[in-house]
Formats: sequence, structure tokens, C-alpha cells
Amino acid sequence: MPASPIRKLVPYAEAAKKRGVKVYHLNIGQPDIETPKMALDAVRNFDFKVLEYSHSAGNESYRKKLSAYYKRAGMDIDYQQIIVTTGGSEAILFAFMSCLDAGDEVIIPEPFYANYNGFAVSAGVVVKPLTSYIDKGFSLPPVAEFEKLIGPRTRGIMICNPNNPTGYLYSREEMETLRQLILKHDLYLFADEAYRDFCYTGEHIASLNLKGVEDRVVMIDTISKRYSACGGRIGALVTRNQDLLDTVLKFAQARLSPPSFAQILGEAATDLPADYFDATKAEYLKRRDVLVSRLNAIPGVFCPNPGGAFYAMASLPVDDTDKFCQWILESFSYDNQTVMLAPAGGFYGTPGLGQKEIRLAYVLNTDALHKAMDCLEKALEKYPGKI
Ligand SMILES: Cc1ncc(COP(=O)(O)O)c(C=O)c1O
Repeated sequence: MPASPIRKLVPYAEAAKKRGVKVYHLNIGQPDIETPKMALDAVRNFDFKVLEYSHSAGNESYRKKLSAYYKRAGMDIDYQQIIVTTGGSEAILFAFMSCLDAGDEVIIPEPFYANYNGFAVSAGVVVKPLTSYIDKGFSLPPVAEFEKLIGPRTRGIMICNPNNPTGYLYSREEMETLRQLILKHDLYLFADEAYRDFCYTGEHIASLNLKGVEDRVVMIDTISKRYSACGGRIGALVTRNQDLLDTVLKFAQARLSPPSFAQILGEAATDLPADYFDATKAEYLKRRDVLVSRLNAIPGVFCPNPGGAFYAMASLPVDDTDKFCQWILESFSYDNQTVMLAPAGGFYGTPGLGQKEIRLAYVLNTDALHKAMDCLEKALEKYPGKI
């Protein structure tokens, strides 16, 4: 099992805090936006005598509300095509275990959400990374590059849209390219849409709306980011493929049921007015603009403008971001403050890539982001491994 690139620097951050240094956490996608009160109140006020198992596929009332949410977002999904999972994490694991045999391969554009590696290891699945590049803004690699990797054991392509860690939002043309690829080579498309509600420049093209591949698309969803409810542990696997739903349900039955409290929370949250997302999106957009402009103003730093999610990747003028991200916690502070960043190497499957890149999560308010960027700027002036 690979270590999480996001969490491996935690002991250095803890040590910095023990020294009295304030640490700005830009390393992890834990939103600071408050969980909607009406959703928390639904849990507080729920009257029950026994905290029972729910249906293995999730509460029917919640699945019906989710189906309505998807319809509002333009996806015609019946509640029976939804299996509620323990976070999007379990949906990814169920998707891999249900669609691929041990030794089968899935192609994933890199850099990618590092935990895909952990789920692949758990399911015996082989990840074939396909590099996307920072100087191209992390757009989809060309078809010919996919086709070089497609072999007899390739079963699927996995994307995250909008992307974690790059923030890249796939265009209509890119989604059409993927549609043709999975059709031509008889593959599944695993589409992780955890950040669907956070798109800033351009339209989100839902994988479930791709035509002619309805039985090939598996969408992964979660309430973690949408409603700032990461601790609730509720996600969903959505597909129109009935055989696949039957198989996924067997895995869902084996683990009995998804968490009960957070299904209540998720169900209440689907009743939030449409403008709920307008306010959160406007806040993230403001933060993105601060972060990206501050980064690009630092000599030697380059950060492409992300179209969605709440992450950005930046290249730094340093020897190795693993060392730099440790040094900035261990040996640096500015006004008794420092910043925790995620070195990007762990988001790449190809060894050696991403060594000059970091991922930043803009999950702090703009004041804190400015202070974090002050720290980064000063740190880059002082870092002994600067190139
Ligand atoms: C792209 C992506 N997929 C899945 C997950 C897992 O989400 P959950 O909290 O629903 O398990 C995350 C969490 O950060 C993520 O960024």
C-alpha cells in the first residue's frame, strides 16, 4: 500500500504546532465551509428508538431525493440506478471490484487522486497511468496515447471531473473523445464527479449523459464536498447497467449498509435551495483567483488556472517538492507562521514525475490564503534547494 501523499507530512506539521507555529493547511481537501444547518438539524431532530441497519442500497427515500437532485442537474437517473455507499471511496472500490478481475487494468490520466492507488491495490487492479502535463493545463492526453496503453487486460478508463488534484474541467470535446474510446475498445468509463457542483469556467459534462455508452458508464458521487460533509461518509455509485448494479449490490449486502445518520443528512441537504451552490461557488471562485494570481506572481512559479473543484497544481523552482514541503514545516517560519502543502509526486503513477510540483487546496478564506502565500513566497526566497 502506498502512503497517502497528503497525510505523510502530518508529523512535521504537528511538531511545528507544538513549537507554537501557526500552520495554514493547504494540503488537504477539507472544506472550511459550514455544513448546512438544516441538514445537521435533520439529524439532531430525527426521532428513532433503534439505530438500525438501512437497506444495503441505501434508504429508498434518500435515493429518490438523490434521483431528483440528478434530474435537476440534467441527468435522468432512476432511484433504482443508485447504490448509496460509505463515501465516494467505497463507490470507487465497489466499481473496481465489480467491473475488473484481479490483474485487469484501468487507465487513469495522471496526476490523479492518490487514493485510487489504494483502491486498486485492494481490488487487485493494475493502474496504468497516462501523463497529462502542467504546461498544457492538464488537458486530456491524445487518443493515440490512450491507444498505446490499451491491451488485452484493459477494462476501463477512470477520470475525475472536475479533477482532483489538477482542478481541470474536461471539455465537451474531451468527453466525446472518451465516449468514442470506450465504445471502440469496449471499456468502462469510471467518472468520479465528487466536485461536480464546483465548476467556474465552462460547463460540466456529465458522464451519465454520454450517448450510446449508457451501460459502460459508472459515476462516482459523494456528499463530502458538495455539502461540506466529509465526516458523514456518504457517497453513491450510479450506473444504468443492471447487471453491474446487481453485482455491486452483492458487495453492498456483504458490508450490510451505509451510515444511517448521514443518509438523513444527505436527504435533508437535497432540499437546499438551488442558490446554496451559488454562494459556495462564489466563495471558492474568489479564493481560486487569489491563490492563482498570488502563485503566478512569485518568480519561477507556474500555476494553470483550474476550471473547477478546489485544487490547483503549481510548479516550483525547487530541487524536490517532497524535501521542500518538509523543510517549510520543519525549518522555516515567517511571522511565526508556515504552510502545509502536498508534494505532487504521490499523485503520479509514473515514478519520478511531479517532483517540482505541489497541489494546493483552496479551502481557507482569502485572508488566510494571502498569509499562506506570503509564507510560500518568503520560503522560496530562503530555501537552500532553490534552482
Ligand atoms: C476525487 C475524489 N474522489 C473521492 C474522494 C473520496 O470522497 P469520500 O469522502 O466521499 O470518500 C475524494 C476525497 O477527497 C476525492 O477528492
